[in-house]
Amino acid sequence: MDAAAPRPKENMGEPLPRVDARLKVTGQAHYPADLPTANIAYGALATSSIAKGKVTKLRLDDVRAVPGLLDIVTYGDMDKVDKPKFGNSGATSIGPLHDRRIFHDGQIVALAVAETFEAAEEAARLIRAEYEEEKPTATFDSPGTATIPAAGKSPLFKEDVKAGDFDAAYADAAVKIDQRYSTPTQHHNPIELFSTTAFWEGDQLTVHEPSQNVTGWKVELARQLKIDPAKVRIVSPFIGGAFGSKGPMTPRTAIVAVAAKRLGRPVRCVTSRMQAFGTQTYRAETRHRIRIGAGKDGRISAFAHEGWEVTSRPDAYVVGGTSATGRMYDYGSVLTHVSLVQTDRNTPGYMRSPPETPYVYALENAMDEMAVALGMDPVEFRRINEPKVEPIGKKPFSSRSLIQCYDQAAEAFGWADRDPKVGAMRDGDWLVGMGCATAIYPTAVAPCAARVRLTVDGDVRLQCGSHEIGTGVRTVAGQMASERLGVSIDKISVEMGDSSLPPAPVSGGSISTASVCSAVLMACDAIRTKLYAAATAEGGPLVGSHNEELELAGGKIVAKSGASAKVGDVLKAMQVGAIEEYAEFAPKNATPEALKKLYAGTPEFHGADQDEDSVKYAFGAEFVEVRINRFTREIRVPRIVGAFAAGRIMNTRTARSQLMGGMIWGIGQALHEATEVDRRYARYVNRDLQDYLVPVNADIKDLQVILVPEVDHAVNPAGAKGLGELGNVGTAAAVASAVYHATGKRIRDLPIRIEQLLV
Ligand code: MOS
Repeated sequence: MDAAAPRPKENMGEPLPRVDARLKVTGQAHYPADLPTANIAYGALATSSIAKGKVTKLRLDDVRAVPGLLDIVTYGDMDKVDKPKFGNSGATSIGPLHDRRIFHDGQIVALAVAETFEAAEEAARLIRAEYEEEKPTATFDSPGTATIPAAGKSPLFKEDVKAGDFDAAYADAAVKIDQRYSTPTQHHNPIELFSTTAFWEGDQLTVHEPSQNVTGWKVELARQLKIDPAKVRIVSPFIGGAFGSKGPMTPRTAIVAVAAKRLGRPVRCVTSRMQAFGTQTYRAETRHRIRIGAGKDGRISAFAHEGWEVTSRPDAYVVGGTSATGRMYDYGSVLTHVSLVQTDRNTPGYMRSPPETPYVYALENAMDEMAVALGMDPVEFRRINEPKVEPIGKKPFSSRSLIQCYDQAAEAFGWADRDPKVGAMRDGDWLVGMGCATAIYPTAVAPCAARVRLTVDGDVRLQCGSHEIGTGVRTVAGQMASERLGVSIDKISVEMGDSSLPPAPVSGGSISTASVCSAVLMACDAIRTKLYAAATAEGGPLVGSHNEELELAGGKIVAKSGASAKVGDVLKAMQVGAIEEYAEFAPKNATPEALKKLYAGTPEFHGADQDEDSVKYAFGAEFVEVRINRFTREIRVPRIVGAFAAGRIMNTRTARSQLMGGMIWGIGQALHEATEVDRRYARYVNRDLQDYLVPVNADIKDLQVILVPEVDHAVNPAGAKGLGELGNVGTAAAVASAVYHATGKRIRDLPIRIEQLLV
């Protein structure tokens, strides 16, 4: 065992290497734009250079002269196709070629299609639009914003949670803070670019595109094209980073499908890095006001969290992280309110821990401020306010190991050696600061189907229309089958990322491991039942044994008595070459329509704060050390420790990898990451990877992930809580708290920059 493969503790699976690791590192994994397609034509997007107004004319004469040009898809050409819908499967309701209105900078105005990629690019660049231009609204405080309450505007954010009488409790509190925080615009920049390849075989459409939701996209694309969903297939076997950006389908997919139909040839369009900033989704900027009131003993009596989020004009995208922050501690009273601020920007969308990242950043920064105001250790402050039930609905937590996380992380970090006095710790020219924060992520689960086949040779084929976005879901699904069928992992092939497979929910909200593994578990158990029945039947090799006395291991059915039977022999005796089971998992609280909705691409989410019996969350505690140069104010983060509890850990290697990646991203959020918006033109400025800063390996010396054992049978049959989005929650607040500890400067607006520490 090494650091990358932590030794499993209680309720943790083996650190098996990823089943697709070799394919990936040897270049044999085909990402959607790599899938071989014959006779392909190339598409390139032309996008608007204004953010608001109308396209009056497209000048195409020069464009038509480009050698190799095959087609231009633009206004009028999408008239027979329905406009996109905004929702889980659709990134925006803006149908860019359905009318000539411009809603945001970088909006698609045409698709040029040519024999070569170069010719398509040249043609797209030569497309000149003439506009009737209006003054756009860029962001918060820009002229022309409209602010509306978020509650009820989105099915994902129904209400502003509250409890008790905040105003009275806050007025009476002995110690209080009232502060404002902000987070910037951020763009997920997965290394794999966004792309669509579409081809028609008769009336059957196939789309190769990186997707976190092949079933949802199949249904939504069929709706737009007004064809039977059975005629659409979305193929996405490997995804080179997603982070939410490949969750909802963008309008480009239908445009490329229409181009392929017109041309009678496959069309591939790979979006440039720069165009992705405007044609895909992103994390919008947020603002927060937090008020906390407490007694001198440190017990919180009042908590208020108000949030403001930027969205586009037509679509009410909301993250609404108050449902998590409002349940974090034993507050006494809670008041929350979330507002949407409409601007002339592309519609934002999911980005790793969409609600929690900005909202918990604000909460945990405020918690540290409150601990300072109370003169209390910040870990102790959280311990004092650890709840028995969540404050909103007074429901128990299905499990909550936050204090264990704090204890283990604090111990590993050496928190006890910290001198709490601000600016007291130094190392030569470096001011040393230490801070901590809580991580939280809701544990949800959705219906999911899976097919598992066990052959007489002991090979297993597992099929599930989920998506390998880098999390390791192929590996953990295979691992679940390996454990339940007693077959070694190298005998198992796992097929995912294709809408022709049994449907799985969107790979978002950190639900995949729990949802997929629960379905795989059901399918494998159905196979076990059949095998056991045959083996224990009259004349069978294990006659007289009861199912509870049997196990599957090493290709055999093994009885407690020591007797065993080879699985292959049992299948032969059954006179079959294979057993195949198709399982449909539905969460405990699923409605009668739940499975129908899974096939329709609109699966129900359960768990988190939705269930009656308990609320379900995963928790963690993160500790960081920062070093700030006393002359230049350069900020380094040489050390970070996170301890996390997330129910059953399916694979300690992939779990650690997810949590580590999240924490590194959290450091990026704290110190580097921001998309700059030009307020004059409502345009993104740093639209490339050179100017869009992220931390790399060399920036962080020592990063430790501690997996804290936790058993939770209430969350789902697999007992697993999602952790893909847990690691980057809280990190930025821990960095901000450490910066305060080092310098005495409380930075409330992310990212924390050198210039903020110079003044
Ligand atoms: Mo994640 S942002 O829910 O794909």
